[in-house]
Amino acid sequence: MLKMMGLSFVPLLLAVGALTLESNKVEYDYFQYHPMEEINSWMAQMAKEYPDVVTIVDYGKSYENRTISLMRIGLKTDAKKKAIWMDCGIHAREWIAPAFCQYFVRQILQTYKTDAKMEAMMTNMDFYITPVLNVDGYIFSWTNSSNRLWRKNRSPGPSGDCYGTDLNRNFDANWGTVGVSSDCNSNIYPGRGPISEPEAQAVTYFVGSRKEDFLCFLTIHSYGQLLLIPYGHPDFTASNYDELMKVGEGAAEAIWKVHGKKYRVGTSPAVLYANSGSSRDWARMQDIPLTFTFELRDNGTYGFELPQEEIQPTCEEAYSGALHIITYAHDKTFNGATATAAAAVWTTLLALGVNLM
Ligand SMILES: *[C@@H]1O[C@H](CO)[C@@H](O)[C@H](O)[C@H]1NC(C)=O
Ligand SMILES: *[C@@H]1O[C@H](CO)[C@@H](O)[C@H](O)[C@H]1NC(C)=O
Ligand SMILES: *[C@@H]1O[C@H](CO)[C@@H](O)[C@H](O)[C@H]1NC(C)=O
Ligand SMILES: [Zn+2]
Repeated sequence: MLKMMGLSFVPLLLAVGALTLESNKVEYDYFQYHPMEEINSWMAQMAKEYPDVVTIVDYGKSYENRTISLMRIGLKTDAKKKAIWMDCGIHAREWIAPAFCQYFVRQILQTYKTDAKMEAMMTNMDFYITPVLNVDGYIFSWTNSSNRLWRKNRSPGPSGDCYGTDLNRNFDANWGTVGVSSDCNSNIYPGRGPISEPEAQAVTYFVGSRKEDFLCFLTIHSYGQLLLIPYGHPDFTASNYDELMKVGEGAAEAIWKVHGKKYRVGTSPAVLYANSGSSRDWARMQDIPLTFTFELRDNGTYGFELPQEEIQPTCEEAYSGALHIITYAHDKTFNGATATAAAAVWTTLLALGVNLM
């Protein structure tokens, strides 16, 4: 009895602790899962708190006509910038992925004012981050517990008595060839044709319209603790396979250093299973050099239903891995230390209101 009372006090104390007395508002809890409406208000809040660096861009509509939004994050300059892509929640049930995108946004926003490297990266590049790509599916996975493991979007299949296309089989990359099922009840149904789905169209048109700007395309999933490189089709090898493996191994090492978790690196056929129509493969086919799929924790113990206690360590280690890849992409393009110094000078000039171009 005593023990039960003790337990019931814990959430109450946590709730009180989360109130900031000065502003009388509840701090956003990055270490719990949030339903779509809370993620939407969080995005709006970030844009309000960081008006100089955060812009919300609506770039598509889901099948059920919900807006698909990303956060463009970067320091304003007159120079043409490179870009980093990150999307989370293309698969509805992988709740740790949207949690990671939100954590990632918070980290870069907290870091850039004091960390010269992050400041340089946010000067030279814009981050395009979609916290939840498959909005309909994500909401569906929250509606009741029998939908918790929903993966696909919510468009009806050809016969009308089945729902959902696997968005990560729907991209125009060897579409419909391996790792798919033509049964629309299947979790790996690739849709009626390449980019038949509005969510896949949104990414294809947005990224495709400025593909030469993107240095990196990171798509965040769970679970399995893997970093997957192109291609999913066993007959094709990326022209920069060695570079992708080297950068991936570096990221896995960075991840391991944080909490000792092992992530394996390789192509899908080598470490998981062959597939086709993935956004990662499509992005690499657009000549975006560094494209990776992150499969976050765990390795199968809880699977998609990763306990909330693991959100924080999962995000901390994955942040370190993502940053390894992004830093590599940045330094390769902007020539490491020299560019960093130049960017710092540039930022200083901007801060002084000097307009050079
Ligand atoms: C989405 O909006 C379009 C245009 O208003 C409409 O034709 C369509 O029926 C809507 N779809 C759904 C699933 O509500
Ligand atoms: C849960 O959702 C499914 C699918 O929409 C529905 O068939 C089922 O009745 C719902 N269950 C409850 C308890 O609401
Ligand atoms: C997952 O990791 C845990 C802890 O490291 C280990 O005990 C377990 O055997 C692993 N399970 C699988 C399926 O690899
Ligand atoms: Zn997935």
